[in-house]
Amino acid sequence: MSKHTVTLTDNATGKSLELPVREGTHGPTAIDIKSLYGEFDAFTYDPGFTSTASCRSDITFIDGDQGTLLYRGYPIEQLAEHSNFLEVSYLLLYGNLPQKAELENFTDSITRHTMVNESLKNFFNGFHYNAHPMAMLTAVVGSLSAFYHDSIDINDPASRDLCAQRIIAKMPTIAGAAFKHFVGEPFVYPKNHLSYSANLLNMLFSRPSEEYKISPVAEKALDQLLILHADHEQNASTSTVRLAGSTGTNPFAAMSAGCAALWGPAHGGANEAVLRMLEEIGDVRNVAKFIEKAKDKDDPFRLMGFGHRVYKNYDPRATIIRDTCHEVLQEMGMENDPQLELAVKLEEIALKDDYFVERKLYPNVDFYSGLIYRALGIPMSFFTVLFALGRTPGWVAQWMEMVADPEQRIGRPRQIYTGAAKRDYVPVDKR
Ligand code: CMC
Repeated sequence: MSKHTVTLTDNATGKSLELPVREGTHGPTAIDIKSLYGEFDAFTYDPGFTSTASCRSDITFIDGDQGTLLYRGYPIEQLAEHSNFLEVSYLLLYGNLPQKAELENFTDSITRHTMVNESLKNFFNGFHYNAHPMAMLTAVVGSLSAFYHDSIDINDPASRDLCAQRIIAKMPTIAGAAFKHFVGEPFVYPKNHLSYSANLLNMLFSRPSEEYKISPVAEKALDQLLILHADHEQNASTSTVRLAGSTGTNPFAAMSAGCAALWGPAHGGANEAVLRMLEEIGDVRNVAKFIEKAKDKDDPFRLMGFGHRVYKNYDPRATIIRDTCHEVLQEMGMENDPQLELAVKLEEIALKDDYFVERKLYPNVDFYSGLIYRALGIPMSFFTVLFALGRTPGWVAQWMEMVADPEQRIGRPRQIYTGAAKRDYVPVDKR
């Protein structure tokens, strides 16, 4: 038993239970309730897991009150400024920044695993031309499990590494193919001399008929966006990957479950929802009206890109991306973009409004990411695919950590049953 304990007392019976308290490097302590059901015959109730730590993790730390985000201890601001997505992926997977040779080997391995089996193309042909790209991504990522199943041994660290590198490498290729199917153009194969982000841009935008010049500003902005999305503790999609993975399922199937969870507008679909909202607001003159709608409890409208389960101060990713957004729009000659003007106005008014101030609702990363994606020429329904691509190293790192953790068991939450009490079946003619 750890020295720090908490005693739980049932006020109806007077029965007490002393529970150990576990401490992490940073952040609140956690009361270890593993023995609760056995000793106390009770569960805990925490819908949405607002007070529940589902695992221990060495990967990412967020201090929502301070607006701090650390990957393996490194502040996101430093990584966004000085690192690149593949180095950050290495950091998330293996715990430390790589030595030069390690980074070269890792980059080479990712670069050489970007090709997908040619027959995977047929999956895309099964989709209608206007299928949502997240539907294609979720399905095709899952289908990778059919190509890599018998060869994977999740209990072998080397096999897990190969799997991790394969998924990080193939995501841009799959995303590129989904995009090309969506816009009705021929698929573009990966090119090994390009960086991860430049390769992605090339697979999205190059055409056989003309030369495509990759803008260094677009390449850098995209790489930075991927870094900012790379991991975020036990969010809904990551927890889904862990939960699916806890059954020992094929890791590509677990990643596909992560894509499905990410798609929703409360999570990775928020960047798309922000632009749809800006379109709906239409003009700065309508901002006040929409702020009132967002505050009205009888109106389902919410300010998309505002609020966060964990950040109760400015989302540090939003601060970084806000500056990048202005830079990219300037580079693309879109600094007078009416939607940017609208977004700035909305932010300005909401940040002064008591409703948002009292509830600590600040812009999150997705408030500005959609504007950048749009400036890069990416259609709205594709935004979440890029979020998924960025989040992939986080999903994989968390999956690897979970599989290697001897304390981790199959995820199986409990419930408070509130349905009908036990009753007898009545034949249909007697009901
Ligand atoms: N607009 C208006 N009111 C809001 C908003 C919003 N965007 N977000 C929260 N609130 C209100 C909510 O109505 C509630 O008010 P009250 O206390 O009076 O009932 C209070 O703020 C707390 O909200 P909550 O829904 O209990 O908070 P949550 O932690 O369950 O939800 C959230 C977090 C991100 C789902 C939510 O803030 C939201 O729906 N935001 C808009 C969607 C969005 O931008 N999502 C992207 C999140 S960042 C990307 C990622 O990491 O996935």
